[in-house]
Amino acid sequence: MHITICFTGLSPDPWVQSLQQAFPQAQVSAWSPGAPAADHAIVWAPPQTFIDEQVGLQTLFNIGAGVDALLRLRLPPTLKVVRLDDAGMSVQMAEYVCHAVIRHFREFDGYDTDTQAGKWSYRKPRSRSEFAVGVMGLGVLGERVAKALQVFEFPVNGYSRSPKNLAGVRCFSGPQSLPDFLAASRVLVNLMPLTPETENILNKDTLSQLPQGGYLINVARGKHVVEEDLIALIDNGHLAGATLDVFRTEPLPAAHPFWAHPKITVTPHTSARTLREESVAQIVGKIQALGRGEPIQGLVDPVRGY
Ligand code: NAP
Ligand code: GLV
Repeated sequence: MHITICFTGLSPDPWVQSLQQAFPQAQVSAWSPGAPAADHAIVWAPPQTFIDEQVGLQTLFNIGAGVDALLRLRLPPTLKVVRLDDAGMSVQMAEYVCHAVIRHFREFDGYDTDTQAGKWSYRKPRSRSEFAVGVMGLGVLGERVAKALQVFEFPVNGYSRSPKNLAGVRCFSGPQSLPDFLAASRVLVNLMPLTPETENILNKDTLSQLPQGGYLINVARGKHVVEEDLIALIDNGHLAGATLDVFRTEPLPAAHPFWAHPKITVTPHTSARTLREESVAQIVGKIQALGRGEPIQGLVDPVRGY
């Protein structure tokens, strides 16, 4: 067996070592143009040349959950694309989202401003029942986030493509139910994949259906959000603000208005990082399962786009 690793902007060396340890009999190497044909590839943002040259590949393991960038390449129809399936990401996402929701709900930014000015002052406690959180996308990450929010007793709504039934979550599905889902969600958490159906889905029309004082947490992809529409709705007072981890252009350009906006919190695409040990263990397990002819989790449907 030959495994090749092709990463853009990330060193493949520690991954080569870990995979070689897991498969001592296999040939594991970092890809360079003209490299011999491999059976499986582990990739992050590979160039089209890689796909065009590696015609013998059976499986492409993406070292992230989102495959939007990968599906923009021309891929042979027989090539299996496999995404990371949690691999330590869902607990990070739950931490990030709960932190952002609680920071907003408890007005901790306001307390920071006060205490930095040496001011001892209280804010009126807000009613949790008025802070329903809507989780848009109830997949591997969204479901974990919805469960984590319930621990803090926030009412939780969920929105997905196909109908779901999750304990304690008011579930909505399909575009016809989007207006009701939005109207019922004071805080909106985006955890959908980026597909032709979801690109620009958070725009003037949809974001203005959130209740007055709504708040957006975007942890999925920057291209879900029409950035000017978000800023306009915050500036006209309909939305209270946003916590954004992902952007249409990354790194976020220095002159971008999000950086200095007083009601927008920016983080550098860090809400759920790929953890090498967990990811390697998962990919190794899947290569072994494929070798035994068993089905695996995390296969991407290229038509659906995720
Ligand atoms: P997933 O398991 O594939 O779940 C996707 C969810 O979105 C599913 O519930 C799906 O509905 C729903 N969905 C898809 N298209 C939809 C549509 N048109 N309308 C309504 N719902 C739709 O994905 P995941 O592992 O939870 O990850 C979600 C996304 O998070 C990734 O694609 C990636 O972009 C992003 N992400 C970001 C970071 C970060 O650090 N910021 C880290 C990891 C992932 P069904 O259940 O009906 O299929
Ligand atoms: C990160 O954004 C991922 O998709 O894993």
